[in-house]
Amino acid sequence: MQNAHAQAAQGQARITASVFTSHVPAIGAAIDHGKTGDDYWKPLFQGYEYSKQWMQDHLPDVIFLVYNDHATSFDLGVIPTFAIGTAAEFEPADEGYGPRPVPKVQGHPDLAAHIAQSVIQQDFDLTLVNTLKVDHGLTVPLSLMFGQPEHWPCQVIPFHVNVVQYPVPSGQRCFQLGQAIRRAVESYDRPLKVQIWGTGGMSHQLQGPRAGLINAEWDNRFLDRLIADPADLATMPHIDYVREAGSEGIELVMWLIARGAMADVAGGPAPKLAHRFFHVPASNTAVGHLILENRND
Ligand code: DHB
Ligand code: FE
Repeated sequence: MQNAHAQAAQGQARITASVFTSHVPAIGAAIDHGKTGDDYWKPLFQGYEYSKQWMQDHLPDVIFLVYNDHATSFDLGVIPTFAIGTAAEFEPADEGYGPRPVPKVQGHPDLAAHIAQSVIQQDFDLTLVNTLKVDHGLTVPLSLMFGQPEHWPCQVIPFHVNVVQYPVPSGQRCFQLGQAIRRAVESYDRPLKVQIWGTGGMSHQLQGPRAGLINAEWDNRFLDRLIADPADLATMPHIDYVREAGSEGIELVMWLIARGAMADVAGGPAPKLAHRFFHVPASNTAVGHLILENRND
């Protein structure tokens, strides 16, 4: 017979896995225009074949999707550092060429409200966003992991991080926030399977004299450290990201939020590396991708 404590533990939400991927807009365009089999794109999409099967086999109830808006919903008028999408539905945004032809994203307002309550009480001042349109930062990772379904097969809580306008949050702050998100998810009284995704990166610079910069060696070292020693990686200062990975490489601090939410950071077992992929180039960007599974699933 199970005691009440064990039953309650079974009834809580839990983080089952983390997924990390770049979100290059040209990848979305290649999918939307039927070019995934072209010579240029084929090797990239082959790297996600395993991931699409893995997603089918490990479908969560909810994805907590850490991404950055690219001055689409948050123009330069208002720039929240950390913002959680609390709505029931999020439409794809018009990024200048019309919205991508992808399904609307279904949210989870109750879990989002719970996470907001918990994380704000843990001293992270989130912005609540009840109306939000989502750009390539969120929709391209969904397309890479799910292909082109009529409906996204699970609910998604968008979580925006400002990595566009300085000052941006530190890697350390992001890593600590991930730990707070884990505590928030685990205190939700429904037995939901939650994945946390960290998106953006890898090395790229879209502007100025160094436009086109890619640093594959640094990127792979980042992946090694993210897997094996994220607490140490979290201490890396911004200037290192910008110098080594380009001005837009700073998007990688978002990966530390997802990594901070994994069980080992709270004293549990090390995650299982289910998949690792790296490819250069996609448009002007290095593409990196990891899947880490918690062993408590
Ligand atoms: C590009 C834009 C992005 O937001 C990004 O993360 C990578 C590449 C681009 O415009 O090529
Ligand atoms: Fe980006």
